[in-house]
Amino acid sequence: MSETEMSPDGRDKVQKKPVRLIAAVCNDMGIGKDGKLPWNLPSEFQYFLNTVKRVSRPGKMNMMVWGKLCWYSLPKTTFPMANILHVVLSTTLDTVPDHAHFLCQDFESAVRLAAQPPLADLIETIWIVGGTQVYKDALKHPWCDLVYLTDVMADFDCDVFFPEFDRALFKEQEGFPDVPSGIQEENGIKYKFQVFKKEMGDAV
Ligand SMILES: NC(=O)c1ccc[n+]([C@@H]2O[C@H](COP(=O)([O-])OP(=O)(O)OC[C@H]3O[C@@H](n4cnc5c(N)ncnc54)[C@H](OP(=O)(O)O)[C@@H]3O)[C@@H](O)[C@H]2O)c1
Repeated sequence: MSETEMSPDGRDKVQKKPVRLIAAVCNDMGIGKDGKLPWNLPSEFQYFLNTVKRVSRPGKMNMMVWGKLCWYSLPKTTFPMANILHVVLSTTLDTVPDHAHFLCQDFESAVRLAAQPPLADLIETIWIVGGTQVYKDALKHPWCDLVYLTDVMADFDCDVFFPEFDRALFKEQEGFPDVPSGIQEENGIKYKFQVFKKEMGDAV
């Protein structure tokens, strides 16, 4: 997916990029509590890092799009991340947060940044890493093709949730490349990696 086309609003020529969501959700689709992850699953977190930094060849990069609270929730020892340009979304910040590369005021501006010069020839994938509103915007975006969703098979008290999405439109995949299959277990918690792919049809 890297052909040139008009932007979704029909204003400019852009290089279309895959928009992909990645999240871990527990039984009730909870993703966070008190600004943090509700669980401690280091191998799951490593899978997340490995997935978002994967590029097809040296010299290419991916973009990660973060809500402001998600951005500040990560320990700064996580940065820098190889092969990644970070965009933080906020309507109230006026400077780019430390370790991030760009600040955008809305979701579409972040997508345009990746799809237009000077970054268009560099960026391969736009990874959406939450929170809730950012996931909602991404699920509606016409370039959204995959949802990487780890099913954490346990109950956790959460105050932030992954949005509902149409599982007739996004179909669960079997044996997806680079995604370990089967039940994983860490710290006594079972989980499994899942990928949902949007059936493009004529709608996109
Ligand atoms: N389990 C997982 O995989 C996972 C993944 C992601 C997050 N989380 C958890 O989720 C929680 C954080 O998520 P959250 O939903 O509460 O917050 P968030 O999306 O990270 O941050 C919310 C703030 O980000 C800005 N923002 C979000 N969407 C925007 C948009 N479309 N345009 C412009 N600005 C936007 C706004 O900042 P302004 O108010 O400055 O405008 C908004 O107040 C944490 O607990 C985190 O650990 C878990």
